[in-house]
Amino acid sequence: MIYTRRFMSRMLFICLWACGSGETSETPSAACASQYVKSEASWKSMSGANTLYIPVDHRPNWYWQEVSKRRGGLEPVSGYEDLWLDRLFAEAQIQILGCSVHGGRYWEVVLDLPRLFQIIRRAARPIFLRLLSRLLVRTDDELNSMDDLPDVMRLSVCAPQVCDQDLMVDIIVPQFYAPMLMGAKPERKLLNRSFQDVVRVEELLDWSSINIDFAIGGTDGCGTSSLHRNLEQHPELAFSTVGEDFFFTAELAHRLLPLKSQVESYNTQLEEIKDTKLKSVGFRPKIMGICNPALFSTGLARRKLAGMPNLKMIVILCDPLGRLEKNFMEYHYCFDSLAEAKLRGLASGARDDEACFASAGSLLSERFGKLKRFWQRREVAVHMPTLMNLFTGRIIVVHQEQLRIRPNAVFSSLASFLGARYTFRSQTSFHRYNSVGGHRTDLCHNATLVSALKRHLEPEYQMQELLMKDAQELVPESLLLRSTRCDRIATEEATYCPSRSACE
Ligand SMILES: *[C@@H]1O[C@H](CO)[C@@H](O)[C@H](O)[C@H]1NC(C)=O
Ligand SMILES: *[C@@H]1O[C@H](CO)[C@@H](O)[C@H](O)[C@H]1NC(C)=O
Repeated sequence: MIYTRRFMSRMLFICLWACGSGETSETPSAACASQYVKSEASWKSMSGANTLYIPVDHRPNWYWQEVSKRRGGLEPVSGYEDLWLDRLFAEAQIQILGCSVHGGRYWEVVLDLPRLFQIIRRAARPIFLRLLSRLLVRTDDELNSMDDLPDVMRLSVCAPQVCDQDLMVDIIVPQFYAPMLMGAKPERKLLNRSFQDVVRVEELLDWSSINIDFAIGGTDGCGTSSLHRNLEQHPELAFSTVGEDFFFTAELAHRLLPLKSQVESYNTQLEEIKDTKLKSVGFRPKIMGICNPALFSTGLARRKLAGMPNLKMIVILCDPLGRLEKNFMEYHYCFDSLAEAKLRGLASGARDDEACFASAGSLLSERFGKLKRFWQRREVAVHMPTLMNLFTGRIIVVHQEQLRIRPNAVFSSLASFLGARYTFRSQTSFHRYNSVGGHRTDLCHNATLVSALKRHLEPEYQMQELLMKDAQELVPESLLLRSTRCDRIATEEATYCPSRSACE
């Protein structure tokens, strides 16, 4: 017998019952075990939510089919996506909040199943396979060998506050979770190792523990850089990054709840940014924002931000035709030299030399052909009802036209919407960023094409009118008239300030 910490804590646990000791002089491990046992059913009832996103239309194998069945058998029909997300998020959020209200902490437990299988005594392996098979697919014989095992099994576990990371691995998992996989006395079924080798636990927090106050969540290509760079000039406001913040869309991509370690390191970065601004402008900003121009269209990311009850959302709208043309130039328009176009900021740096189109006419002729996906990915209107719902009472919609005409008024009202106590400094000037004027493609040379494309974009225009009216804002004239950059091109001075540079 090896006298591990696990073994000792188990002995203490047994002693607790046998010796009938009170709670006064309990060690943490004894307290963890006794508090868990006292209300085991209640801790378990606050456990089990998914901590990672599972796509509703993703059914690679029997495992997902079963999960889907157990969760009410939603069919993978598009349109369920938002409902499905609501459900996943609500479940995780309710559990972690319930757990903390009841004095617990919420953990993600990841079991390495193939490794666990390897360290289980040969004689106990068939039981393990059978129990796991029942648990996952409710049949006895779906799993027959190590090759059939999923790589990991992920559990979410609510446990008393006193149970820390080590006690989760040494007490909670072996005593209260392993038996469902291995039968009674699971530790005896292991070879010379303990659960330490096959279990990873990490504490989870809820979304409100992330210290950001607002987000610029869209629309990409409509002036989000201008919003970002100009708001940053306000001494009370700061941003998490100089460019786009990918924390929610990349690092936390599939998470329904963030890990405590992720939250802490992100919050630390935010504090450092505030310190830096204190040093450079002599004022420590209180209001922290992120800029992620595509966020409005990302179901998971926007839901995470909505999970922060005090977060405010800013969205900027612009002429959909101008945005479509700009994106077309960046991703699909043919240039004599792509390399040079990239250097000049006209073609996206990420673009490879895939099929390009020599005319903006392709936007029309390939609307439902080769550019169907391109069009789909530029849609804004379809996302707006969800976004308005998620952020009711805490979203502000700005039109690029307002920014063009009265930048000072727009930025002042944004600052006060965000809760700034002071106005911008009097000498602040507001620049435009990321703008390429003049003829970007052949679009504006062809009025027929312009009107045809505008007809396709009519739902976008209508949505914009609706949003401005709902917000009791004046609908910009250019929007009412459906006028585009092509109408101004002859009279307006052409800007050239691609990507994040300021226009002069
Ligand atoms: C533990 O068991 C493994 C395989 O069963 C063996 O290779 C290893 O030498 C053992 N380690 C110790 C310290 O006994
Ligand atoms: C203008 O666009 C339309 C629609 O794409 C096209 O049929 C027409 O040939 C174009 N006109 C010119 C002069 O290129």
